[in-house]
Amino acid sequence: MDFTEKILVLDFGSQYTQLIARRVREQKVYSEILPYNVTLDRIKEFAPKGIILSGGPSSVYDKNAPLPDKEIFELGIPVLGICYGMQLMAYCLGGKVSKAAKREYGRAELMIDDDSDLLKGIRKRSAVSGQRSATLKTQNSKLKTVVWMSHGDKIEKYPKGFVPIAHTSNSPVAAMADKGRKFYALQFHPEVAHTENGTKILKNFVFNVCKCKPKWTMQSFIETTTREIKKKVGRDKVVCAISGGVDSAVTAVLINRAIGKQLTCIFVDNGVLRIGEAEKVESTLKKHFRMNIICVDASKRFLNKLKGITDPEKKRKIIGNEFIRVFEEEAKKIKGAKYLAQGTLYPDVIESTSFKGPSATIKSHHNVGGLLKDMKLILIEPLRELFKDEVRVLGREMGMPEEIIGRHPFPGPGLAIRIIDEVTLQRADILRKADAIVLDEIKKARLYKEIWQAFAVLLPIKTVGVMGDERTYENVVAIRAVKSVDGMTADWARLPYEVLGTMSNRIINEVKGINRVVFDISSKPPSTIEWE
Ligand code: XMP
Repeated sequence: MDFTEKILVLDFGSQYTQLIARRVREQKVYSEILPYNVTLDRIKEFAPKGIILSGGPSSVYDKNAPLPDKEIFELGIPVLGICYGMQLMAYCLGGKVSKAAKREYGRAELMIDDDSDLLKGIRKRSAVSGQRSATLKTQNSKLKTVVWMSHGDKIEKYPKGFVPIAHTSNSPVAAMADKGRKFYALQFHPEVAHTENGTKILKNFVFNVCKCKPKWTMQSFIETTTREIKKKVGRDKVVCAISGGVDSAVTAVLINRAIGKQLTCIFVDNGVLRIGEAEKVESTLKKHFRMNIICVDASKRFLNKLKGITDPEKKRKIIGNEFIRVFEEEAKKIKGAKYLAQGTLYPDVIESTSFKGPSATIKSHHNVGGLLKDMKLILIEPLRELFKDEVRVLGREMGMPEEIIGRHPFPGPGLAIRIIDEVTLQRADILRKADAIVLDEIKKARLYKEIWQAFAVLLPIKTVGVMGDERTYENVVAIRAVKSVDGMTADWARLPYEVLGTMSNRIINEVKGINRVVFDISSKPPSTIEWE
């Protein structure tokens, strides 16, 4: 990406690493995450105006503690260490870290001793906090603000050149600075919403310390990316995988903007799509954007491959591989096709490359995990730097209709990972009908927008029921509805009983093969959104 105003986040395994990058981007400054052990050359090539060292679960004294190349402190680039990142700075620059007598998790009150460039402009919350700060003056502190902590180690001795700039009752050095070298470190997490002035602090780092200018906007993203695509593709042709979801549709529209008719979109019916999916996507993209779209009915092929398969990971891999194969076959029919475009997003990229990202092994996302080694097409993934909400902004910016942009996410492996146990045509048809009813009722209740995803899952359990005077022995459907901001964490949606009641009634009455409906009340973590 051709941007000069960039902040690099080095990932030491914190669950909040992505949040740091998001918060920086919210300030219209581009930010990217790289693993902690990336080479110095790569960092120089990236040319950031500032580096943020993320938190992480380790202790700097652990045997295999992740440590960066110490040379990063010699680059003349401002550095902000967060939590483990702070301890790392102390450790690498000659300070001392030790186990805290009392571990600090959750809320803490930060007392600012020296506002410096980093803690400048932190405002009092209310009259109450005003009173608190008045009290604090007697303790030789100017201001107090709520921060979020999560650490077991503390700074015993700060490194040469540093001064402490804030403390809490448990951490005498809760923030420190070497103003000359522009090194700053925070024991708490400014990126989480619970840290009152967290955004202000990150903003201070980005603008006051690193002197970045807010240039990262969707319009600039569109311009740079279309330019890059044009340059990369030249006169060749691109085929784009349309899956029915927001991401692939936005990818297609973006590439269409860059190269127009050199793009052919291919929509594969893999046999595990929702009702009317193919028709809806085709008509919308054709109508609004006059794109070349080919619809391939490969449902039999996919269902054949899925015969007898019950393991979720195997299903994902099979669908991912088959998907790419179908593309290769179709692409061969398009003379000059050299590239394959996919709507891979930043979280998928991080989950697949993070040095010990937990999600990488939880589920292999078919967009990234299932790629064939002998793939003949070169991959183009223009959204691989964007978060989901940024993709929606991008789509709107390009004039895409809300019908596509506002759609709930739908996984690449489709209904296959919502049909627990074996996928057959008959079971897929049952689920399709139940799924349509769930969505229909969600829309009727005007809940579609406030819910991240709502769907039905077909369980491999049969239960006894009674319909009319007859005993039935049929399958169970689970309804899943979650609220989420980014799909990384989610809470089950408190659907009104009446809505659940109508869904249950309709599913049992209208879908042959179902005689019981249950509601999933698990959050993520510890569960995941999809059942497989
Ligand atoms: P989980 O089940 O991991 O899902 O909590 C998080 C979000 O990701 C979607 N998902 C996928 N999306 N390809 C995709 O494009 C996949 O293989 C895939 N698996 C899960 C899921 O629907 C949810 O929004």
